[in-house]
Amino acid sequence: MSAGSGDDVTVTICPDGPLLVRGPAQLRTVDGRTVEHDRTVLALCRCGRSRLKPLCDGSHRLSKFRDPATAEQLDHVLTNATPLPAEGSSAA
Ligand code: FES
Repeated sequence: MSAGSGDDVTVTICPDGPLLVRGPAQLRTVDGRTVEHDRTVLALCRCGRSRLKPLCDGSHRLSKFRDPATAEQLDHVLTNATPLPAEGSSAA
C-alpha cells in the first residue's frame, strides 16, 4: 500500500456510513462557488438522513442505513452501471 503524498485526496467509503474525503479537497457548489473550509477530513453523507447535508451528522446510525461498500460491490457497480441521461435530454 502506498503512503501517498500530502497532496493526495482519497475517498473512503465507510460501510453503512459516510464518504470520508481526506486531503486538500476543494468543496464547490454546482454553480462553481468554492466553499472555504479548514478540515483535513470531510465526512459526506450518503444515506440522505443528515440534517447537515452534505456533511454526515451520524444519522445513518439511527436510520439503520445499510450498504456494506465492499470492493466487490464497488467493482460491480463501476463495471455495470449505466449513467443516467443528462438532465433535459430526450432519452426514451
Ligand atoms: S451518512 Fe451519516 S448521516 Fe448520512
